[in-house]
Amino acid sequence: MDFLSITGGEKLQGSVSVSGAKNAALPLISATLLAKNEACLKNLPDVVDIKTLLSLLEMLGAKVQRIDPHTVKVNSSEILSTKATYDIVRKMRASILVLGPLLSRFGKCEVSLPGGCAIGARPVDLHLKAMEKMGAIVEIKGGYIVANAPKGLKGATIAFDKITVTGTENVVMAAALAKGVTKILNAAQEPEVVQLCEVLQAAGVEIKGIGSNELEIVGQEGEALEFKEIEVIPDRIEAGTYLCTGAMTNSSIRLERVIPEHLSAVTQKLEEIGFGMEYGENHLTLLPASKRRAFEIITTEYPGFPTDMQAQFMALATQCEGASIIEERLFENRFMHVSELQRLGAGIHLRGNTATVNGGTKLLCADVMATDLRASSALVLAALAAEGTTNIHRIYHLDRGYERLEEKLRALGAVIERGRE
Ligand code: EPZ
Repeated sequence: MDFLSITGGEKLQGSVSVSGAKNAALPLISATLLAKNEACLKNLPDVVDIKTLLSLLEMLGAKVQRIDPHTVKVNSSEILSTKATYDIVRKMRASILVLGPLLSRFGKCEVSLPGGCAIGARPVDLHLKAMEKMGAIVEIKGGYIVANAPKGLKGATIAFDKITVTGTENVVMAAALAKGVTKILNAAQEPEVVQLCEVLQAAGVEIKGIGSNELEIVGQEGEALEFKEIEVIPDRIEAGTYLCTGAMTNSSIRLERVIPEHLSAVTQKLEEIGFGMEYGENHLTLLPASKRRAFEIITTEYPGFPTDMQAQFMALATQCEGASIIEERLFENRFMHVSELQRLGAGIHLRGNTATVNGGTKLLCADVMATDLRASSALVLAALAAEGTTNIHRIYHLDRGYERLEEKLRALGAVIERGRE
């Protein structure tokens, strides 16, 4: 397995080009199961999760042509199977995103129940209840979701008990080919959900309320869609993570190919802490702070402070004067990074879903272990500020969602090497 060695204490400088958003690309790749033509997706991030989902579509019979590391053509006109097997789904729970399109287009599918993961149980009950509301018969057999809708899906009003990003995406894709109108109440409003809706709208599906928490989709009654070329939006979480590399080392970092309003909650928090921020149309620059002040965060759905940036800000809190308070409201176990940060000397106290971080602590190098994607990036950030050389093990978690991480960090002046153990 690979590990990263990072020698901390370096000031960083320069600019980073942000890659395409993993969490936009995953639903968009799944949505190509609704297409009758060959769909072209550009600006895909070159990360493991994308490769995993593309191999799942190939298993189902889609023709996937990789033009370059960031561009693919997918032709789902001849799908041979509607079974997403355990060996693939266990690698990436976002495979659940094939449920909606397969059911809507083919009237049946079997999808391995995605297990939980490090950050929580990650149930999909809301996805399944929605499919049943749209007329599917859903059973759990041998660890598989077995769903059937022999007469096709019908439009329904889906009121989500909780805001769910992939749940909303699954229903939007299912509704696209359903018969009649589907209304989604309490829909997720993340930019990744917005892009999925815009792509389906461009393919001929009438969708109202895009970007709001209430969506109305007019189904095409099983008629497959004609997709236009897709350019995946920039990854707001990767962007926020690189801003934190500058914040962690109190350096100036410039981001290229970013949509600033997608990370307003993050940039606003950084300004509150004491950093300067220069905004451009598709770039952002973080400027060093004369004093980094402690802060409070409560993670909420978009446009609130993103849970996917919680771990990174916990690392940053160790460098801010005073005690910072971080409350995680979306996932029940998204503090796996705490014990690893404590190994580096961080002073963190947990009480339920709230962490208190004593700032102004000197971090010292140690061997630490990545546990999940965003926790791993928090360890990278801490290592950039820690004295000495920190080794981060099990970095396959990082490779799932961060493209060419060490190359991008080295270009900023970080002392980082990838090793094999
Ligand atoms: C998406 O996960 C993202 N993944 C996650 O990013 C992100 O952390 C999360 O949204 C929240 O923003 C992708 O988009 C591929 P949810 P998702 O359904 O859709 C509960 C990353 O690091 N819930 O919005 O799985 C759930 O337990 C990943 O890139 C149910 O109870 O998250 C959680 O408490 C990590 N039943 C809350 O809702 C359901 O059926 C939000 O989950 C579905 C969800």
